Amino acid sequence: MTRKNILVFRELPDDQLARLQAVHEVTVADPRSQRAAFDAALPLAHGLIGSSFPVDDALLARAPRLEVVSSVSVGVDNYALASLHARGILLCHTPGVLDETVADTVFALLMATSRRVVELSNLVRDGAWTKNIGEDLFGFDVHGKTLGLLGFGRIGQAIARRAALGFGMPVLYHARRPVDLAAQAPELQGRAVHTPLAELLAGADFVVAMLPLSDSTRGMIDASFFAAMKPGAVFINGGRGATVQEDALLAALDHGTLRAAGLDVFATEPLPAASPLRTHPRVTPLPHIGSATHETRHAMAELATTNLLQALAGERPAAVFDTASA
Ligand code: DGY
Repeated sequence: MTRKNILVFRELPDDQLARLQAVHEVTVADPRSQRAAFDAALPLAHGLIGSSFPVDDALLARAPRLEVVSSVSVGVDNYALASLHARGILLCHTPGVLDETVADTVFALLMATSRRVVELSNLVRDGAWTKNIGEDLFGFDVHGKTLGLLGFGRIGQAIARRAALGFGMPVLYHARRPVDLAAQAPELQGRAVHTPLAELLAGADFVVAMLPLSDSTRGMIDASFFAAMKPGAVFINGGRGATVQEDALLAALDHGTLRAAGLDVFATEPLPAASPLRTHPRVTPLPHIGSATHETRHAMAELATTNLLQALAGERPAAVFDTASA
């Protein structure tokens, strides 16, 4: 097989890099820190692999030989889907291997916001645990409360399993269409119910957003959304930051009835130092760590590498994103 040119634009584990190097010419150049090397390799590249960098129209215009882009992520909001489709460039991603890990992260945010884990841990660290804590520092139960899920794909279902089977939580979910639970998740039958959005917002103690970013979801979580939530409810975002109007979220925390927010994602990442979300007392912010465990990030890199090798060999990769559907 002819050796092709691969441009790795975000660090890959050594074992996966070695798989690529065994069959192709590989340049590793992160455009954030090695711009000149990246720019020099791009026009020759047949394949790109990486994540967290916008592969937009301008970048694609400088990559005339490109056959495949392999993203080490499940989300594809960094990619110019229409141009990839128009040029017949394959886009691969990493669904499936991160579901349980992202669900763990979301559950960590449910627990942290309700039981005030970070705040109370800091109290101990600060030497302020000088007497038994009183009601002013009590949290709220998670078990038995109602969970409202926006987005009920693989990750949403993994969250629902934790909630329904582990914490005895009734689950309401809102998705484009009801999921056939008998076929896809029989353990959730009778435990997760497809619910109109207004009803879900009025009934859920926790609203968890797991939405992909697209033209139809950008900014959809707005002031009217927060106003429709049950008083005292908690908002968690483990999907994409730009689905939320962050000013509206802050207003709901400061002047509305939202009790707390747990956020793994933000409209701008890394979160700008000046963002009020960084230090708000009722926000638990995380640095987009949904899938960030050793095991899962390795599994994602492995799947992305396999996808790329398959595509460059002329085979249909295991995980191709349908750019026509976007
Ligand atoms: C993804 O894969 O899209 C996730 O956001 C990474 O955590």
